[in-house]
Formats: sequence, C-alpha cells, structure tokens
Amino acid sequence: MSDVTPRPPRPLKPLPKAILALSQQSQPLDWSMVFGNDHPVELEVGSGKGLFLAREARRKPEHNFLGIEIAVKYAKEAAHRIDKNEIPNVQVHPGDALDFLARYVPTESLVAVHVYFPDPWWKARHRKRRVFREPLVLDVYRTLKVGGDFWVVTDVHEYYEVILSLMATHPEFDVQPEPEPNTPEHELDYLTNFERKYRIEGRPIYRAHYRKR
Ligand SMILES: C[S@@+](CC[C@H](N)C(=O)[O-])C[C@H]1O[C@@H](n2cnc3c(N)ncnc32)[C@H](O)[C@@H]1O
Repeated sequence: MSDVTPRPPRPLKPLPKAILALSQQSQPLDWSMVFGNDHPVELEVGSGKGLFLAREARRKPEHNFLGIEIAVKYAKEAAHRIDKNEIPNVQVHPGDALDFLARYVPTESLVAVHVYFPDPWWKARHRKRRVFREPLVLDVYRTLKVGGDFWVVTDVHEYYEVILSLMATHPEFDVQPEPEPNTPEHELDYLTNFERKYRIEGRPIYRAHYRKR
C-alpha cells in the first residue's frame, strides 16, 4: 500500500465571460443568442491581444464584435481585457478563423470583416499557412451582407501585393479608397497592437478596403 495520498484535482479556473466557447456543434450560430441582441456583427480574423476589439466596441456600442484568435493564450488575454473593462458587445473565440467562418457563420450575417497584420509566414514552404487565401475571400463574401466592409492591413509589401492580386480576381467586391491612418493621441488609439508597434518603429503600413456589391 502506498503512503502517498493522491492530491485533489486543482479547481478549474472559470473562463473569461467574453470567451465564446462552442461545443462540437457544426450549425451556423444565431448572433442574437451569442450577443443577446440583434445589433450588427463585425468579425476580426486573428484578433491577437484584442486592442482593436476593445477600442472599436467602445466606439460603436451599437455593434457587436467577434474576434477569432487561433492562439488560446492571446484569445484569453483579449477576453480578460474585455471583462476587466466591462465591454458588453465583444466575444472572442479561440480557434481557426477559416474553420470558424465555414462552420459557424451564417450567410449574409456580418456587416464587416477585419484582417489586421495577418502572419506573413516568410518561408516559401509555409506560405500555404497564410490566412489570407482564396477560401477566406470566398467565405468573407458569403458571410458579408450586401454593402458589408472588408478591411485589410499589413506591413508586408509582398503579402499586400498578393492580397491585391487575389482581390482583383473577385470583382464582386468594390475597391474603396485606401484608408488613412488615424492620429493617435495616446497609446490605446492605434488600430491594433501590431499597428502601434510598427508605426512607432516607422515601418511602412499598407491598407486596403473593399465593399461587397
Ligand atoms: C501578427 S498577429 C496580429 C494580431 C492583431 N491583429 C494585431 O494587429 O495586433 C497575427 C495573429 O493572427 C493569429 N492567427 C494566425 N492564423 C490564424 C487563424 N487561422 N485563425 C485565427 N487567428 C489566426 C495569430 O495567432 C496572431 O495572434
């Protein structure tokens, strides 16, 4: 017989309220069930630590915001920030944005999709991991309402050119004037965490805006 008393299991930490956890269901979601209202929904692909979600949701309390972030650590960090600041109109889902769009987002249900500083995957053999590819564009088209906005920002000129070329094969999106950067008055005024870092470093930043016909 062993003298070692088994340790009781550690209590699980509750998830932040702003985390959208899903069971294995594969039906499209009902946004009014997710957010508790019928306000327009905007989705961010790769929301990182959540600066965009927190700032934009405060600026537009009449919209709902959903961030999809594959790195669970960042998704939780963003959700903690949302909980701490008591921002009611944001949810963050830890998962793959391409999979999420395809499985859970109803057709013509979003008013905007944002993709800011997608990972460049520099090595040629890793390029297929880039999130901004044909399947993303097709699902953004399917899930946006007519007149919905598609915003893209990157610091990688080569990736930007690939994005512009891909979008040029989709005339179902109208090209909009290139968005101007804002003039930040303090450090939380930047578009995203990566925008803040790169603007402070003085890197060029490339922006594009499309609208679904
Ligand atoms: C360079 S960071 C930019 C984060 C944020 N958008 C910003 O500008 O501060 C790219 C983010 O996209 C996330 N990401 C990469 N592929 C993804 C995917 N398929 N689905 C969701 N998130 C993804 C990464 O984990 C990372 O947090």
